[in-house]
Order: sequence, then structure tokens, then C-alpha cells
Amino acid sequence: MPRLTVTKIAPALGADISGIDLHAPLDEATLAALKDAWATHLVLRFRGQALDDPQLLALSRLLGPLDPPGPNPYGKPFLEAFPEINVISNVKVGGAPIGNLGDGEAVWHCDMTYVESPPRAALLHALEIPPSGGDTFWSNMYLAYETLPDATKQRIAGLRAIHDATYNSAGIMRKGMKEVTDPRQAPGAHHPLVIRHPDTGRAALYLGRRRNSYVLGLDLADSNALLDELWAHATQPEFTFRQVWQLHDLILWDNRCTLHRRDSFDPEARRVMHRTQIKGTPVAPAFEAA
Ligand code: SIN
Repeated sequence: MPRLTVTKIAPALGADISGIDLHAPLDEATLAALKDAWATHLVLRFRGQALDDPQLLALSRLLGPLDPPGPNPYGKPFLEAFPEINVISNVKVGGAPIGNLGDGEAVWHCDMTYVESPPRAALLHALEIPPSGGDTFWSNMYLAYETLPDATKQRIAGLRAIHDATYNSAGIMRKGMKEVTDPRQAPGAHHPLVIRHPDTGRAALYLGRRRNSYVLGLDLADSNALLDELWAHATQPEFTFRQVWQLHDLILWDNRCTLHRRDSFDPEARRVMHRTQIKGTPVAPAFEAA
């Protein structure tokens, strides 16, 4: 029997997993127990796992084929030897950033929902952390959906929204993109506002990111009002879990039923994270359009 221990972190989501060593290959029973805990808690935290990049890649591959990082503002992978790894960092070497997202706030988002099949999961490993700040938050989108008023549930069933590809969560334009002046024209995939999770079968609110989002078929003002209402609801503190990073924390999250954001931190401090993503499947609506 696997000896891992699962300890809930916050009422809404998140669990600490202890009793396993992620450097060693996981046996089938342990992997199955991990997947069970992941489906229940949505975000798993493993503390004190000083993995090198090949170990991070091997662990990530146990969850499925890797999804390479989306285009960053600099147009080439941050790690030449490991292009499947994204570097999240404010550090510059010789004036050039070694990673993405800088030291500012990264606003609430779900990763790469501007494509038809966004990643199903991501793993983030803390290699250097600032003395304070740079905390990361996740929010539970099953709970966000389930707690909506019935009238709102009925209103959004069957609606779809544009998920803009132009900017990353730090507000930096992706390479090759142009400024969007009308969200109705934003480039990016169109996804249902409520999706059916392919593994659990549960309905989840699916918002992507707020900037340049647009609910298809509505007046722009009505779309903005509806999106503002949904975003305010989905990011209430009681739906969230706050991660105060320790060195060599490793976090695994489900990108289909959570949103995340990151606090800013002191630009003079160093923060370096290595990140992988697992390929997803086309997003499925929870309800058919009327
Ligand atoms: C991310 O959005 O993947 C980055 C989160 C973080 O920097 O903590």
C-alpha cells in the first residue's frame, strides 16, 4: 500500500502530500493514490523535493505527454537543453531575462486557454525564492460554479467566450501579437463559460483571463457586466488557497478547474521557478447551446 499522507491545506482546495520521494520512480499504486488526491484537492503541494530538471521532466511525464510552453515575449525557449521547461523568473543575466513574468503581479488566469486544447496540468518547482512576496493563489472553479445563483447558472449555460491570446498574465504582449482595441476582435479560442471536466465529470466555471474577454452574442457592455460579475464571484477569498513558497516546494495543479494568480515581490530579490505542463484535450461544454 502507498504510504503517502494527504493533508488538506485550505477548505476550498489544496493538499500537502508527504511520505513520498519524487526523485525515485513512483510505483503504480502510489501514482494512482496521487491521482486520486489530485482529483479531490485540485492542487497538490510537495515540500522539500530538490529535483533537477530531468527529474522534474520524468515526474511530469507520469501524468501524460508534455505540452511545451506557449510563446514567450522573447520568442525562444529559456532553457535550450530543456525546451519543455518554462522558466518563471525576474532574474536578468547581462540585461537579458532568464525567464518570464518578471517581478510584478501576475493576474488571475488559467494557462493557455487561448488555444483549443489548453494544458490539463502544470507543475511549478521553486528553485530560488524572495524573502517575502511572490505568493501564489489558486481558486476552485467547481466551487465557483456550484455557488452561483440559479438564475446566473441558467443564463450562462450554453454561452461561450473569447479567450484572448495577446497578453500574458504579467500584461506583457506575446511575440507576434498586436494590440487589441475591441475585445470582440481578440485572437484566441472560443470556449464554453461552463465546462465538463473530462476526468471527474463535474461542471466548472471556465473564465481564462479577464483582459479582452468577450461573451459571444452579447452587447459589449452586457458581456463586460456579466464577466465582471463572474470574475468577482470566482476569485472570492473563500474559494482560494494561498501558497507562501518555501525552497523546493513543488506544486501540481489542475488547469481545467482552477485559476491562479501571483503577488508582486521586491525587484531586487531573486525568484526562479521551473515549470512544466501536461497536454490537455479539447475543452468540452457542460451544457449544449440552446
Ligand atoms: C504562473 O502563472 O504560472 C506563475 C505563478 C508563479 O510565478 O508563482
